[in-house]
Amino acid sequence: MILGIVQTNPEFGNVDRNLKEIEELIGPREADLWIMPELATTGYELRGREESLELSEEVPNGKSSKWLHRLCKEKNFYAVMGLIERDGDQVYNGSIVMGPKGLIGRYRKIHLYDKENLRFDKGDIPFMVHDLGIARIGVMICFDWRFPEAMRTLCLRGAQIIAHPSNLVLPYGQAAMVTRCLENHVFAATANRVGTEARDGRTVSFTGRSVVIGTKGELLVSGALASADCMTVEIDPAKADDKAIHHYDDTFGSRRPEFYDKRLGLE
Ligand code: ACM
Repeated sequence: MILGIVQTNPEFGNVDRNLKEIEELIGPREADLWIMPELATTGYELRGREESLELSEEVPNGKSSKWLHRLCKEKNFYAVMGLIERDGDQVYNGSIVMGPKGLIGRYRKIHLYDKENLRFDKGDIPFMVHDLGIARIGVMICFDWRFPEAMRTLCLRGAQIIAHPSNLVLPYGQAAMVTRCLENHVFAATANRVGTEARDGRTVSFTGRSVVIGTKGELLVSGALASADCMTVEIDPAKADDKAIHHYDDTFGSRRPEFYDKRLGLE
């Protein structure tokens, strides 16, 4: 299958412009599954919960969900995209999993980063794996990389590809994903953004260099450091089902949970 990443340079609050940028970046390129960044529709530096609510959308009846469904149907692909999800009076840093037939799943960021804690409610849906037919995918968002339990949970639940919409600001997120893939024998696609936002009393810069990492921690493709970009790579998701390290050791089978601290809460 062909896995694609769209690396955007969104304009804060300009949803129409940001959706158009994604469509133009994809252009005539073909992929079976596209991953877009975290908060791809709105940008990142929200001034607080009020502004999050103002820019939030319902899933799947909001504008961005409908737009993504149209694109998936027209071009016959699956996609994972970050947006602000409103559910009643709750507001989440969310990602949607969309396909030609409509919404497949949603994820609400579990490990909020820094001021996100003032802007969003904490994610309240368990890590789930979605079988798209072409691959089993799990979704986590950006700072979730910092908690190995997130990706481990998705992989223990059968994910072959980790879709990782991101707005990375720390310099080592992409490098950490190499270890995450190696320790789980899984593919990951980190779709990052570029640009700078000066809002909410500080200036935040995003680090670009989106990456697709293979099951042995190999860098399969990477994006530009400071400009919008789009890239695709052919992968075989079934490779992630083979957890063998060598004859005697297995990534999951050789684990010794009985010796691990119960506070890991993995089982
Ligand atoms: C982040 O989680 N967006 C840094």
